[in-house]
Amino acid sequence: GDPRLQGISEAIRVVPHFPKPGIMFQDITTLLLDHKAFKDTVDIFVDRYRDMDISVVAGVEARGFMFGPAIALAIGAKFVPLRKPRKLPGEVISEAYELEYGTDCLEMHVGAVEPGERAIVIDDLVATGGTLSAAIKLLERSEAEVVECACVIGLREVKGQCRLNGKPLYILVEPRQIENCCL
Ligand code: PRP
Ligand code: MG
Repeated sequence: GDPRLQGISEAIRVVPHFPKPGIMFQDITTLLLDHKAFKDTVDIFVDRYRDMDISVVAGVEARGFMFGPAIALAIGAKFVPLRKPRKLPGEVISEAYELEYGTDCLEMHVGAVEPGERAIVIDDLVATGGTLSAAIKLLERSEAEVVECACVIGLREVKGQCRLNGKPLYILVEPRQIENCCL
């Protein structure tokens, strides 16, 4: 495999029991502090997508905003923010998605993408895939073609299937677990 991936994985801090008991939080803020690991992460995505005729990089608020713009600039694409509700001032389309308790929603500006544009969706992490599914739907309702979704971190079973709503899913590393973590 790519020798850069181990450094990326090790730069992600694992915080047990955050934000609640039993969750092994994968903290990418420590990756952002590590210039080599951050640059390697962006470079891997840029190398993958630079020759794929991608004109849209859509990033999911909030943590997708930390990777998407750097990738968009490097591959010559526009960056489209997919935001939490009531943040965008223009006309929007919305997609609700399921959370453990209740639902949340992503919104995109109408007119941000043209029909037929080729898009990738960037986020830090995929867990249930609900967030990325909503992102895919927003782009497809706008008649963009979602070429792939890309995440820094993905759970083993999701990585194994490597597809989401029929779309390819590209993941760099699996979440790390901490030994001897007891409730
Ligand atoms: C986290 C993470 C992904 C999403 C993954 O975002 O950044 O966007 O959850 O979960 P899923 O695959 O089960 O949908 P969160 O909504 O916690 O907020 P943030 O990015 O604004 O911190
Ligand atoms: Mg998020």
